[in-house]
Amino acid sequence: MADLVDNSIDAGATHVLVQIVKTGGRPRSLYIVDNGRGMTPETIDTAMTVGRRREYQGSDLGHFGLGLKAASFSQARSLTVMSKAAGDEVVGRRWRLDDGPQRGFECDVVPGRFAETEFNRGWRIPLAGAGTVIRWDDVVPFAATHDPRHVEKILNHMITAACQHLGMVFHRFLESNKISIDFEVRDVDGAFVGPPIPVTPLDPFGYSRSARPDFPKTLTAEVDGLRLRFRCHLWPGRSSSAQFMLTGNPADHQGLYFYRRERLLQAGGWVGVHVPHKRLSFARVEVEIDDDSISLFQFNPEKSRVLVGSEFARLASMARASDGTSLNQYLEIAEDIFKTANKRNPKRTSMIHPGSGLPPRVRATIEKEIPPVAGEKPIDIRWAVFPDDSFFRIDRDDHTLWLNKRYRKMLLGDKHGGLNDLPLVKSLLYLLIGNVFEGDYLGPRDKDNLDLWQTILTTAVQAERQ
Ligand SMILES: Nc1ncnc2c1ncn2[C@@H]1O[C@H](COP(=O)(O)OP(=O)(O)OP(=O)(O)O)[C@@H](O)[C@H]1O
Ligand SMILES: [Mg+2]
Repeated sequence: MADLVDNSIDAGATHVLVQIVKTGGRPRSLYIVDNGRGMTPETIDTAMTVGRRREYQGSDLGHFGLGLKAASFSQARSLTVMSKAAGDEVVGRRWRLDDGPQRGFECDVVPGRFAETEFNRGWRIPLAGAGTVIRWDDVVPFAATHDPRHVEKILNHMITAACQHLGMVFHRFLESNKISIDFEVRDVDGAFVGPPIPVTPLDPFGYSRSARPDFPKTLTAEVDGLRLRFRCHLWPGRSSSAQFMLTGNPADHQGLYFYRRERLLQAGGWVGVHVPHKRLSFARVEVEIDDDSISLFQFNPEKSRVLVGSEFARLASMARASDGTSLNQYLEIAEDIFKTANKRNPKRTSMIHPGSGLPPRVRATIEKEIPPVAGEKPIDIRWAVFPDDSFFRIDRDDHTLWLNKRYRKMLLGDKHGGLNDLPLVKSLLYLLIGNVFEGDYLGPRDKDNLDLWQTILTTAVQAERQ
């Protein structure tokens, strides 16, 4: 799919739509639609030819003249391309693997009426006079099962994985709003199109704060007119964020991230300049493949792997930051950070778990995430009529966190009240105040905190009422 999106971007598209089509309860076909400049009756024949390269512009992602065909036949038994350039009519071509070798290397011309109907099908993205519709039939990874429960699960899993992959490969395009990519599922029998599932950017460098303030650092090497830059990042620690986890095990995502023309070609790996190690999990390096460095690289036609030679390794060993830091020194720092992060007590502080007042789902989540204080009665969160307008009161003997009933209706708005109402407010209070129920007596620090929270929260709830 990334290969087809490459082509859409090269065609100047701003919107890409991936539609998965279900017939008889099973996904079978897939469309990729874009609003780019489309193909003329002449260019579509070149486009369907394996290895026929066009003239490429400086910013084009295409290079080999293979992507469309190779990508399509790695996923489907049949490829149909319908396209329209401004001022031309819709043209269509189809190529089926099952036609066999006797067909030679010629594809079918799709009848104009069919191409026209497919093109003007009322796609969610407007194809104002130009665009391209790619259709895959007999999609191979779709075919495995008939069991409807599994079909749904597998399909959802595939969509999630595809969204993640595209979100990562094109994160720079998505972040700068140069392109949008949406998935949708159409059920032919029900004549029903599901809601759009947008691809969101997944930035492998999307941490909020670096492990050290002097990072990221850019290390540069320059030899014989070649210039190579390594932008070395330090993730602040283990994180459950999507940006750290990416697709799978984060230990596999250490290393070099190669970008060419804003598209991520390879996500991690040390390409022979270093050995992967768990201790380097927080080390990720951005490398731009640009005109200054392109001769150091080769990439596979799938554009999923970057190949480098000894010249690259030589430049990598010479690269220095303005303060003299080398790649090896950076990796040592990354290992240190990993060791310190592991030394830090990773165990969460225990809390008395909540009792009545929160929905079972929220309680289950708290119980899963926070270790309990053994042998303590749970903390109930309940409403009561207060003599004053303070927001909460704690009863340590009875393990109850009381909330002032006079604010209840206002906080509920038009929702219904009940034992488990307002879970968000209650969870926040539990996280803030829960620890005060522990121990035999309240220390001065706890007392002062309670006063502080009371003052601020009472002011806040009154401000909310106004
Ligand atoms: N969505 C599209 N919109 C307009 N033209 C397209 C589209 N998809 C493919 N083409 C045309 O078809 C040609 C062949 O595409 P293909 O992906 O096979 O090769 P490429 O993009 O030239 O090179 P690469 O193998 O590096 O991807 C493209 O060069 C382009 O002219
Ligand atoms: Mg291409």
